[in-house]
Amino acid sequence: MDEKRRERKDQHIENYLRAEFRSKTLLNNVYVEHNALSDINFDDIDTSVEFLGKKISMPVMVNAMTGGTDISEDINEDLSNICKEINIPMAVGSQAIALKDEDSRASFSLLSKKDDIIKLGNLGWENNLENFEFAKDLIRANAMQAHLNIAQELVMDEGDRDFSNNFENLKKVVKSLRVPLFVKEVGFGISKDAAQKLYDIGVRYIDVAGKGGTNFIEIEDMRIFDKDYSEFYSWGIPTSKAILDVRSVADDIFLVASGGIRNSVDVCKSLILGADMTAVSGEILSYLLRGDYDYALKYLKELQVKIKLFMALVGVRNIKELKKTPYKLTGRLRELVEG
Ligand code: FNR
Repeated sequence: MDEKRRERKDQHIENYLRAEFRSKTLLNNVYVEHNALSDINFDDIDTSVEFLGKKISMPVMVNAMTGGTDISEDINEDLSNICKEINIPMAVGSQAIALKDEDSRASFSLLSKKDDIIKLGNLGWENNLENFEFAKDLIRANAMQAHLNIAQELVMDEGDRDFSNNFENLKKVVKSLRVPLFVKEVGFGISKDAAQKLYDIGVRYIDVAGKGGTNFIEIEDMRIFDKDYSEFYSWGIPTSKAILDVRSVADDIFLVASGGIRNSVDVCKSLILGADMTAVSGEILSYLLRGDYDYALKYLKELQVKIKLFMALVGVRNIKELKKTPYKLTGRLRELVEG
């Protein structure tokens, strides 16, 4: 049994709830004009989209968080039931623990029977194809995520220090994995350069997981008492800039916007900037753990209603039209993008 790894998993959840540092997605620097002549009938607004060939109720998914411990088993059970009720996809947290520790597998495999939701498995980019296939089969995943988390590893005492073979490894996984592979960050964002390199090796699904929400440098720092990494708490590419950068690489990248996505305005502005889908982690976890199952469910139901409200205010009937809404960049985001 991998006791240390289990302990770390539970500390991530606990420290997420205790974390205080607030960074910005800069989505507030995206200006979208009000449409006073909107001719929309609210009840005709359709928020549904296609994701991996299936219809889902809105372009929002629950992103990778947990698995491997008793607490995370309950969380994955609740999140998967909530996702089923709302009809949105769900990713599990890193399945690395399940590769070696048989006892931890139940917290993931509970999803294997739930074929009525779209499921994404999750492993670090250092894992080989065999591990990805194992993780996929454990939950009967529709797709896998490979996470890039160098900032997190570097501030962990027990973290990896050598990333020199990871990209070559990822290349092989992308080429041979039998389901789509989403490459994601964990809250520090993906740059234009990085996206281009991923595109060149055949990656077509990128989740920017930018700065503005969960901060793994802080979360890991809280587990260590004799070191202080606070000067890095504001490190990372704001989610809004990462969306623009990754989209500028190619139109045929399926782009997931995540990192600090909390409300309907975040969702809609991300789509307007070029995302195809959005994902929430920290926010839904807060509703679930600070509140309960019903509170988390209510959060997502209200999110959908408010996405409709945003769409009514700009005068669009579906997500395809929403994505064509004009916008202007202001302030710091404009400086970063144009400067
Ligand atoms: C995460 N995240 C994450 N990502 C990943 O790829 N594998 C993982 O195991 C985890 N574990 C994890 C645990 C907890 C408690 C949180 C809050 C998050 C990162 C997550 O998927 C996402 O990329 C970031 O959290 C940014 O999104 P939010 O939280 O700002 O919406």
